[in-house]
Amino acid sequence: MSISATLPRPPTDDKRWKIVETTMRRNDFQPDALIESLHSVQQTFGFLDIPSMRWVAAALKVPLSKVYGVATFYHFFTLKPQGKHVCVVCLGTACYIKGGRRLFDEVRNRYAISEGQTTKDGQLSLLVARCIGACGLAPTAVVDGKVLGKRSPTELLSALDEALERKQES
Ligand code: FES
Repeated sequence: MSISATLPRPPTDDKRWKIVETTMRRNDFQPDALIESLHSVQQTFGFLDIPSMRWVAAALKVPLSKVYGVATFYHFFTLKPQGKHVCVVCLGTACYIKGGRRLFDEVRNRYAISEGQTTKDGQLSLLVARCIGACGLAPTAVVDGKVLGKRSPTELLSALDEALERKQES
């Protein structure tokens, strides 16, 4: 039986989990690959949350407590932000070249938050990823889990307006 046959199901159907899986596979799912695997989650999704940590723990066969310990010990890991909405802007090479930085700057300026921060009203958190595996759609951003490709700064801001309005209606 191959290792992948025993790999636990990723937390969601999001194709980005494949990127993390590839990282773990490259390391033969060795527990030593824990930090690299968590890095991969963060670079792909912008943050670590409990489902992602649980999945990495199961795949590498290490206790969740250890994963959580590592994730909270190293300052370069960001745990799931507090905002009701999350905007992750990709600043990987392809996206950076195609204007990812402008996307990031516009969101930062509009909402007066920087990387890893949440607006004072708790509505929006802004994070950065280093490649979400959709370079062909560069520049990309992810708003509440939905990948948005080839968006201008204005289009991204409108998508954020919509997401924030949706929350107020619900
Ligand atoms: S660099 Fe942004 S999706 Fe690959």
